[in-house]
Amino acid sequence: MTPRRIITVASGKGGVGKSTFAINFALTLARVAPTVLVDLDSGTSSVRNTIAAPVERDLYHFFRKGEPLDRCMTPLPEKLDPTGHFRDFSFVAAPQHAIEEFTNLSDTNRVRLIRAINQLPASYVILDLRAGLDTNVLDLLPHSNSGILVFTPHHPAATMAAADIVKALLFRKLRLVFSTDGPLSNAEGASSQLATINGLLDRVEDSYDDRIPNLDAFLTDLFQAFGDAPVVRALAENIANFGVFFVLNLFDGVRESFDAAVAPFVRLLQSQVSAQIAIHNLGWIVNSREVHEGNCHRRPIVLKTVSDGNLRRDKILADLEALADMAGTPRAPARRRSTIDYLLSIDPRGVLLDQLEVLNAMHRDPAALQVRDNFAYIARRALHALGSLPPDRFGQRQLLTPVELCQALLRSAAVLTLDSDGDAAAVPLP
Ligand SMILES: Nc1ncnc2c1ncn2[C@@H]1O[C@H](COP(=O)(O)OP(=O)(O)OP(=O)(O)O)[C@@H](O)[C@H]1O
Ligand SMILES: [Mg+2]
Repeated sequence: MTPRRIITVASGKGGVGKSTFAINFALTLARVAPTVLVDLDSGTSSVRNTIAAPVERDLYHFFRKGEPLDRCMTPLPEKLDPTGHFRDFSFVAAPQHAIEEFTNLSDTNRVRLIRAINQLPASYVILDLRAGLDTNVLDLLPHSNSGILVFTPHHPAATMAAADIVKALLFRKLRLVFSTDGPLSNAEGASSQLATINGLLDRVEDSYDDRIPNLDAFLTDLFQAFGDAPVVRALAENIANFGVFFVLNLFDGVRESFDAAVAPFVRLLQSQVSAQIAIHNLGWIVNSREVHEGNCHRRPIVLKTVSDGNLRRDKILADLEALADMAGTPRAPARRRSTIDYLLSIDPRGVLLDQLEVLNAMHRDPAALQVRDNFAYIARRALHALGSLPPDRFGQRQLLTPVELCQALLRSAAVLTLDSDGDAAAVPLP
């Protein structure tokens, strides 16, 4: 059985093709294992507008009528899936009209939604999030990676906004761990150290203050203050293990995409967040009339029947299935590194060259040449990431409430507390 993963699709700005990607990506994954797409974008209800399926129950019924979420799933009607190839696909539609419970999720409703999503009966759960960066988006994103970010070479602001999501996610995590009334605050003498750390974090996060430009500089300061203490090392590992995954929509050539989107994205992350985080390009989707027409006719491009090219399709599906089997054997986590190893291994040039290499490799891969195959290609790379990276490095097994997140972070950071000398000591877990 394929391990369950929840994969978010987010973008800092609207209109970049997030829903188009999420729908076609979920449909493609459904060829491999049961997949549910949840439309969490209250603004446009675009999933139900893009798939011509009669919706019996949606998130209105979940929030207002107390229906379990798995009773709000809509399968494809026969006219969209005459061959039954997509019978393992279903979606949870957003309410037809805006309702307060969904537009402004209360804490209680957010926790209820998180718990229900965690229990959906599927191997892959894809969340189409609304654009922007409010708590409703942040709390649903994974904590150890970015989920899938979508942006395009045509909207520089969307590229910047995608980088802001990564920044916000990492800082949310650090703020929780180092909060002055959080889990590290009980130890004697901790409060002044936590205050110092928070003061430093304020400076890193403030892009108008360039005294500590990013988390690597922050780490260097901490290293000077506390030495290679476990708490500093845990921080370094948290940053180095954070994975960023993105998809380029409206792709218009390697050179253009590199100059207009990939390079600015990588540079922003390096200068404002860290030169160490791993950035993975999962693939691109070309700008195509067929994609847009598929949306307008409410038959997403991946569902369009084609009379030719079956051979190619079979090959891609065989690849997909082979890769899905791999998803059960995650690689062992990387060995622990000292903070100084981390700081010494930063090479900003390497990251940009890697990105160019990936773009070129994709360009040469025949599976990426036609628009319908773009989604299979991305799904193939995503399944490969799920299979080869440690769990939670890409996507997440469970969504966590802020309290659960804090507990998980402490466990993963070898459970640390500050003692009065500024060193870290292990605390037993409850
Ligand atoms: N690869 C593509 N080729 C052509 N048109 C596209 C492509 N991707 C998206 N579009 C079109 O761009 C528009 C925006 O797409 P979509 O609704 O998926 O974006 P979104 O990011 O989900 O927007 P919103 O923020 O409003 O939810 C739609 O009209 C869609 O048909
Ligand atoms: Mg959308």
